[in-house]
Amino acid sequence: MLEIKDLHVKSGDREILKGVNLSVADGQTCILFGPNGSGKSTLLSAIMGYGTTEITQGQILFKGQDITHMTVDERAKLGIGMMMQRPPNITGVKLGDLVRATAKDNCGDDVISEARDFKMESFLDRDINVGFSGGEIKRSELLQLAAQKPDFVLLDEPESGVDLGNIDLIGKKVHDLLYDTKPCGGSKANRSVSSLVITHTGQILNYISADTAYIMKEGRIWCTGRPMDLLKNIREKGYGECIKCRLVKM
Ligand SMILES: Nc1ncnc2c1ncn2[C@@H]1O[C@H](COP(=O)(O)OP(=O)(O)O)[C@@H](O)[C@H]1O
Ligand SMILES: [Mg+2]
Repeated sequence: MLEIKDLHVKSGDREILKGVNLSVADGQTCILFGPNGSGKSTLLSAIMGYGTTEITQGQILFKGQDITHMTVDERAKLGIGMMMQRPPNITGVKLGDLVRATAKDNCGDDVISEARDFKMESFLDRDINVGFSGGEIKRSELLQLAAQKPDFVLLDEPESGVDLGNIDLIGKKVHDLLYDTKPCGGSKANRSVSSLVITHTGQILNYISADTAYIMKEGRIWCTGRPMDLLKNIREKGYGECIKCRLVKM
């Protein structure tokens, strides 16, 4: 579904990603761990084609197509969707209008009618993210993705800044996004959804069944392994121990 080959990315004057190799198979849920500032969000932005990141070397293939230099809307139309760590406020655009405008297969009205499930019904007439709390921003991002129905989902710390009361709702909605692939509107076929999910706390792993995990460190993929094994190691030893790690070195 996604293959990243020797990806080098600059942000501003600095090289942030220094030769990333990573692949996500069709239908797989992959986890990305890594200390602050290691380049995780930069990688997701580079895959989505969002922001000021500049790809200086390497390739991103999605469903066999080279998307390395495509625009963000071209990638979205091919089926990539992203939940940002810190999405921008968009004054003058109502959340409900965005959900309808970007919905796939005429799903917009179905998703709007489900907004109550996301506790978002009173936000549909508000400007996107303006004055939203941390948990409200995450729920808004998930509502938008529920309408877009991407085949490949990028989630940047879906549980960060979310209180315990909201974690459960967000976890269940992430689960539905990845595994509840019932068609809506004009579409007939169930989809297969793949994902790359950044998590610090690992809490989201209670709601999804992750297949593989990667650790990113200093702009490189340091190692890969089973998600729960890596999380246990990180909790016990921290990322400092990664240097001595004997797991498969990438
Ligand atoms: N526009 C930019 N100019 C310079 N450095 C940047 C820019 N954007 C991000 N960075 C730097 O890139 C590094 C990686 O950031 P990020 O991808 O957000 O890390 P992570 O998500 O792993 O915490 C950080 O040191 C950050 O300060
Ligand atoms: Mg980040």
